[in-house]
Amino acid sequence: MDFDDLLARLDLGTKIRLLTGADLWSLPALPEIGLARLVMSDGPIGVRGEQWNPQDPSVALPSPTALAATWDLDLVRRAGRLLAQEARRKGVHVLLAPTLNLHRTPLGGRHFECFSEDPLLTGEVAAAYVEGVQAGGVAATPKHFVANDSETDRFTVDVRVAERVLREMYLAPFERVVRAGAWGVMSAYNSVNGTTMTEHAELVGGVLKREWGFDGFVVSDWTAVRSTEAAALGGTDVAMPGPGGPWGAKLEAAVREGRVPEAVVDDRVRRVLRLAHRTGALTTARGDAGFGGGHRTDEDVDGVALARELAARSFTLLENDGVLPLTGVRTVALIGAAAAQARVMGGGSAQVFPERVVSPLDGLRARDGVEVRYALGADPRVRLDPLTGPATLVFLDADDRPLKRETLPGTQARWLGGLPERLAAAELRTVYTPDVSGEHVFSVAGAGAYTMTVAGRVVLDEVITVADPAIAFLSPPERRVSVPLEAGVPVEVAVRHPAASGMVSFTLGHTAPSLPAEELIAEAARTAAACDVAVVVVATTPEVECEGFDRDSLRLPGRQDDLVEAVAAANPRTVVVVNTGSPVEMPWAERVAAVLLTWFPGQEAGDALADVLFGAAEPGGRLPTTWPVRLADCPVVDTAPVEGALPYEEGVFIGYRGWERSALAPAYWFGHGLGYTSWRYDAIEAGPSAVTVMVTNTGTRHGREVVQVYLAPQVPDGRPARWLAGFDVVEAGPGESAVTTVFLPERAFQTWTEAGWRTVTGTYAVEVGRSCADRRLSASVVR
Ligand code: BGC
Repeated sequence: MDFDDLLARLDLGTKIRLLTGADLWSLPALPEIGLARLVMSDGPIGVRGEQWNPQDPSVALPSPTALAATWDLDLVRRAGRLLAQEARRKGVHVLLAPTLNLHRTPLGGRHFECFSEDPLLTGEVAAAYVEGVQAGGVAATPKHFVANDSETDRFTVDVRVAERVLREMYLAPFERVVRAGAWGVMSAYNSVNGTTMTEHAELVGGVLKREWGFDGFVVSDWTAVRSTEAAALGGTDVAMPGPGGPWGAKLEAAVREGRVPEAVVDDRVRRVLRLAHRTGALTTARGDAGFGGGHRTDEDVDGVALARELAARSFTLLENDGVLPLTGVRTVALIGAAAAQARVMGGGSAQVFPERVVSPLDGLRARDGVEVRYALGADPRVRLDPLTGPATLVFLDADDRPLKRETLPGTQARWLGGLPERLAAAELRTVYTPDVSGEHVFSVAGAGAYTMTVAGRVVLDEVITVADPAIAFLSPPERRVSVPLEAGVPVEVAVRHPAASGMVSFTLGHTAPSLPAEELIAEAARTAAACDVAVVVVATTPEVECEGFDRDSLRLPGRQDDLVEAVAAANPRTVVVVNTGSPVEMPWAERVAAVLLTWFPGQEAGDALADVLFGAAEPGGRLPTTWPVRLADCPVVDTAPVEGALPYEEGVFIGYRGWERSALAPAYWFGHGLGYTSWRYDAIEAGPSAVTVMVTNTGTRHGREVVQVYLAPQVPDGRPARWLAGFDVVEAGPGESAVTTVFLPERAFQTWTEAGWRTVTGTYAVEVGRSCADRRLSASVVR
């Protein structure tokens, strides 16, 4: 379908209006041509919708790294279908996901939001994700194009990267999703080799659009367009958000003065109309209407069940001396702050409000026949948690008259959009009954003015100043006050906030009097010693893993390492559950009975954990990223630009490609992960473009195996020692065999040269196995 008839009905000003947001999340409607508002929304693990508040919850899936850890493309496709269903429910046409940047270093602040260190795995998982979303009639927007692999100075950093490295590593997943038919791409904040990505004519206009034939729309990352002509000519189609910004009247003047050809604007508008047509936002005389532009499916994906299945399939078992799955266990010591308050998602624009969160404590307590004894052990949180239990948020006008009243499940008030008009103040109230007498600490985290009262008495009255609006909304500073309370006597706690801006975002936090750190650890060890098995959940905090900044350490925050050591010394049957989005150092790994990574597991965390610990489900994950012993050992530890530039000096040697040429070994290699059965690799047969592998389940229960195929040039030639060329997931019952044929793409044998892609001829070993280090069979192919 060409859109010239519609285009011809629009004047220049209207066409340009269509290329900038009408607001934070949408493009303007043009009823005269049957075009509805085109609504966009984050993000990778769930669909937030236009409003960021708990009134309209979203299913929260496991983090993208967890999705990649399944290595299961059908499952990822189903996740995409669910996200499309959620998007349609919320009136969203364009999902701002998935994130295709690579795990260049574990310090990357959005590591949890990216799939893998490997471009092939990233590209395949991303393609399945895009196919799933778009099969539901919703556009996917793979992001951030390109080389946005860390967060330090993310708006300005200039990534210096050789063309070959860009092509083989960082562009490769984008190329794959364009081939899969992505309807959108988001350009990044950063520069590449001296040009900011929203103006990058060579990479956006050239490689993405002309060379790869991408016919979708390129939307800027939010506020990333900083120029009129250069961005319009560079290939960006839509500048978000709006209204305002550097296009509008300025772009119109540039066209009228001949600095930007009108044909460029027409091309941009055609792409938006095509997107509208694809997502059902265009009602033309031909009668396309509603969501899905004909793709709409009426299937009903069960989000809760899928979130639970995905989580279990992503959980990656790194160590197991046989303790798992748990059998004959009557008492479980469950230890750790994150066992009661699960960390289910990473911080930043990927956050959504789920309807419920099942913590490990909830999940394990729901098991019949098992007694769970909880101990905090160590509390790494630097901000106090909200009080749980019903709270009321009242929106008030200038005369203190209530405009609206909301009941919340806890004392976190976060509202972006959907606020009443004439709003002058917001007041959050709850009633708290202490379990223990003593000094209770209350806090408010937010930006602006806050007055806190406890039992009618003002205990805190402060103005908190924050310059960055994103920080003000997502992770504002906290102020604390200590108040003596008596056990069993309920008190009303209230926070009043004059809501001057278009958002309300503050948390009333609390902590009861607690034991000193040493005693908390000792108490946890005593609990562990008295139980059949100990499960310690360790985690990072929102201050550690979040969009907007990089990490500076891979240590677990607080006293969690000491806690694990003490618990493991008290009970040899200690299972450590690592609830983090990306690698952490685990100095105790060899002194515990099992280590299970749960990533950021999404809303059904605790039920999935119980499924895996007790063996109802097998942990299905395999590492999509190599796990170091220590940060200092990693091939790349550099995310800080020097004089604005961040050179990718390591070339293609990130992740296992870098570890393979290092003298140091990681803790666990890319691809590693144990199940609850064992596998024998029986036979391999390699042809020029495919390899067939037979494996047998030699254990006693049904299992799934991720068969990984690596290519290794026989004669070292400056390329990495080996790289992933394909993979497949097989299933078999005890004693049964499974056969799979994995396609070897031509690209796997190619390298980028000045003359384009070139196949490197010679002899290659085709290696199959359970990780890039645990290779079981090999065959030769000649190219
Ligand atoms: C993030 C994007 C996100 C956008 C809109 C930006 O800060 O980098 O990933 O889609 O905000 O929320």
